[in-house]
Amino acid sequence: MIKTVFFTVITVLFFYIIWINNIFAPHESYEMPVQHARIADDVKSYAKEGKQLFEQNCQACHSVRYDAVYISSVQANPKLQTLQEKYGKVLPRDVYEAVFHEDLMALKEAFGKVPPDLSTAYLVKGKEYLYVFTLEPQKVLPGTSMPAVMTERPEETAKIVAYLKSVAEPPPEEKNKRVLMGVGTIAYLVVMGVLLWIWRGRILKRMGLH
Ligand code: HEC
Repeated sequence: MIKTVFFTVITVLFFYIIWINNIFAPHESYEMPVQHARIADDVKSYAKEGKQLFEQNCQACHSVRYDAVYISSVQANPKLQTLQEKYGKVLPRDVYEAVFHEDLMALKEAFGKVPPDLSTAYLVKGKEYLYVFTLEPQKVLPGTSMPAVMTERPEETAKIVAYLKSVAEPPPEEKNKRVLMGVGTIAYLVVMGVLLWIWRGRILKRMGLH
């Protein structure tokens, strides 16, 4: 009985922590004016313009591989097209990093590290962080080699965030598939747990311990 209560509490606590109140998630909070948050959320209206802004302001250093957007020097390299004919528009990461190693190293030499690919930046860093960091990199990461390229252009920055959101979000069919898989996995675990519990009871009975 005590064991049952103990494991139930642990399980409930576990799901509470990962789903409802994730104490391990980053906790710094960044401020973003409401009207810009609205732009960043409105993928339908602004992602397209955001992509153009990304190409103009960020692509010199950053790729968005999930969207087949590569750093400018790679984009200008005729090798890219040959590779895309072979592998599809979105190149496997290892192929990309091996073939264009020199381009990436040139950036590393200039900035001390390779500017990260931003495909999953929205998921990893969140909307507010992307907005605040892009507007004022030095304020968020003192000493960072990322230049402030969007100074005094908060609205355009929000549109770039909308673009990054559009890349990070899977298309609706994919989203449904993932939800189904998640629910399926948990249902499977519950059913197996119940079956194991019944089985355990039977064994105990057969051993005369119950
Ligand atoms: C001239 C090169 C350059 C340009 C242009 C540039 N970045 Fe960066 N960016 C960097 C470098 C270098 C880093 C790595 C900084 C570090 O880790 O200190 C970086 C890091 C980042 C990060 C990760 C921050 C973190 O917390 O690790 C984000 C997000 C980012 N840039 C967004 C953007 C966006 C959006 C634009 C366009 C508006 C942009 N960058 C334009 C060079 C650039």
